[in-house]
Amino acid sequence: MNDLLRISDVTRAEFIELLDLAAKAKADPGFVRASADGRSVAVIFEKPSLRTRFSVEAALARIGAHPIGAYDREVGLGQRESLHDAGHVLSRYVDAIVMRTFAHSRCEELADAASVPVINALSDEHHPLQALADVMTIAEACCDGDINALAHVKVAYIGDGNNVARSLIDAADLLGFELVLACPIGHEPSVKALVLTDPIEAVADSDVVYTDVWTSMGQEDEAAARARTFEPYRITPELMSRAKRDAIFLHCLPAHRGEEVDAAVIDGPASRVFDQAENRLHTTLAVFLKLLGSA
Ligand code: CP
Ligand code: NVA
Repeated sequence: MNDLLRISDVTRAEFIELLDLAAKAKADPGFVRASADGRSVAVIFEKPSLRTRFSVEAALARIGAHPIGAYDREVGLGQRESLHDAGHVLSRYVDAIVMRTFAHSRCEELADAASVPVINALSDEHHPLQALADVMTIAEACCDGDINALAHVKVAYIGDGNNVARSLIDAADLLGFELVLACPIGHEPSVKALVLTDPIEAVADSDVVYTDVWTSMGQEDEAAARARTFEPYRITPELMSRAKRDAIFLHCLPAHRGEEVDAAVIDGPASRVFDQAENRLHTTLAVFLKLLGSA
């Protein structure tokens, strides 16, 4: 594992090792203290963020490493300076680079030039850090943390076949849980997966119901049209009642109550969204421990 640009950059064994490390870090925050003392990580965000930015910086603080952040157009990657040159230069200063951007090819271009690990903190196509936390949350809620038991879990992803959906599909391929999607025609993920159009059919017998925003960052011009198209894909209490009786609800957040999910679901007893958000910290910390060579 040199970079983490997408879930397919890790093997099944590495994914499980990361989950194992994350579980240890969650159970005992002391076990990682100062393990990356004196290391620096460049943190470049070209889109807004709450969870990713703060979990990255908090994870680095826990292991004694230092984030050097640049936000919005501060660096001007690809404008003021090529990604190629920036990758080379940053590699002379820092031990890893975290980047949130638009086209996935921007992460790849940076990683090609960089001699230090590059971590994709969300691109238009992939969100691998999210998928790690998603699987940790599913394992905790549905199989007492036993990764091998994931083979018996069914996840239904309802909504847009976006970056979050693609990384979840990659995780399902690696770990063997069942994943069924329901997406409007024209909004299916551009990768091989079982995709239905009917959300009721997709959630039948599922242990987990997952959704994300209908309009991702960078698609704001399409928001009104998307709100119409995705209307039948809202997660309502009625839709949840078609899943297993003890099914949980997940959402990577940020969420929009009354759009992709009803308040009664996200604020109700089935919701695990804040455990899922917390697990972003533990799984990201595990990624740093592996990539900085501290684990
Ligand atoms: N889930 C997630 O990545 O949230 P942010 O966009 O706030 O980082
Ligand atoms: N699909 C969303 C995820 C946000 C965490 C987006 O890209 O905006």
